[in-house]
Amino acid sequence: MRPKLLAAAVSLALAAAALFGAGARAGTGLSPAGQDSPNAERASDIYELILAVSAGILLLVTVPLVLFILRYRNRGRSRAIEGPQIRGNTRLELAWTALPVVLLAVIVTFVFYKLPGINDLDPAEGSGGALEVQVEGRQFYWQYTYPNGVIAIDTLRAPRGRVVEVEITAPASDVNHSFWIPRLGGKFDAIPGQVTRTSFEADKLGTYKGACAEFCGIQHAAMLAAVEVMPRDEFDRWLAAEARAQQAGNSALGEQTYLGACAKCHGWQGQGLIGPPLRGNGLLRDREGLATIVRNGQGAMPAIGEGWRDLQMDALFRYVNRNLANAEGGADGGQG
Ligand code: CUA
Repeated sequence: MRPKLLAAAVSLALAAAALFGAGARAGTGLSPAGQDSPNAERASDIYELILAVSAGILLLVTVPLVLFILRYRNRGRSRAIEGPQIRGNTRLELAWTALPVVLLAVIVTFVFYKLPGINDLDPAEGSGGALEVQVEGRQFYWQYTYPNGVIAIDTLRAPRGRVVEVEITAPASDVNHSFWIPRLGGKFDAIPGQVTRTSFEADKLGTYKGACAEFCGIQHAAMLAAVEVMPRDEFDRWLAAEARAQQAGNSALGEQTYLGACAKCHGWQGQGLIGPPLRGNGLLRDREGLATIVRNGQGAMPAIGEGWRDLQMDALFRYVNRNLANAEGGADGGQG
């Protein structure tokens, strides 16, 4: 390889290393995004150690390589001249055997030290014990259930500074999904009939975006998720009020369910591009007919409402009839 070309390759590699390094600091670029939950932070710590070791090895190999190529280049000598024949160097051989062993041992020790805190946060890391939330991955939405029975779709509300323990699963008739909010931690599979546990504790207010990270069918890309972190007291008030509203049938659950579970594929005017438009569909006015198709699926349509409580089915039925069917004419065209 020509020295110039090699130097270019080396500077490219160094630039890439700098990019990863800077990204790791800022939580952007090519490095892991998450530093907003203690477990995400621990995953980033491991990334940074491995990055530092790799960058060191990169320099250790490429810098001497370039120097040797420059120093011992051909300089017009005949190709037939043999160089000195060197055999064995005990110290050097010991060094390049021992160094990788030590480095690997350091990495493995560090990973096993950090691992328990990545899988499961100690509720004592936050305050007020853990909040347990059930997460179900379904074609093609996320359904969350709080301890008091409140249901939410796609966007999970969570209190700041309290550990949230998430139990992730999928209905037996569904497929594999993966729950992933990058800034709050890694990907955790939603597997039919199995429970995967993880937890997070967000220190900052705001909305953390995420997505399904396992290809699960035609609307995989529409299976977005979000965690909205609220102040503790505001969250507690919301959860209590939402429970009352869902019981009384005047919450936004119907709309959430429609937008999360129905509109992604259908749309009122067919803008979901996959299922037929819902506008003008007589089944929407037939509570039992709607429940049957939603609970059991039909043809290409998955059983999106399998396992729903009546409360949720009622909320959907009410929303579709009150807010959409009455607005026939497409004033709602923009929202699904
Ligand atoms: Cu669910 Cu991809």
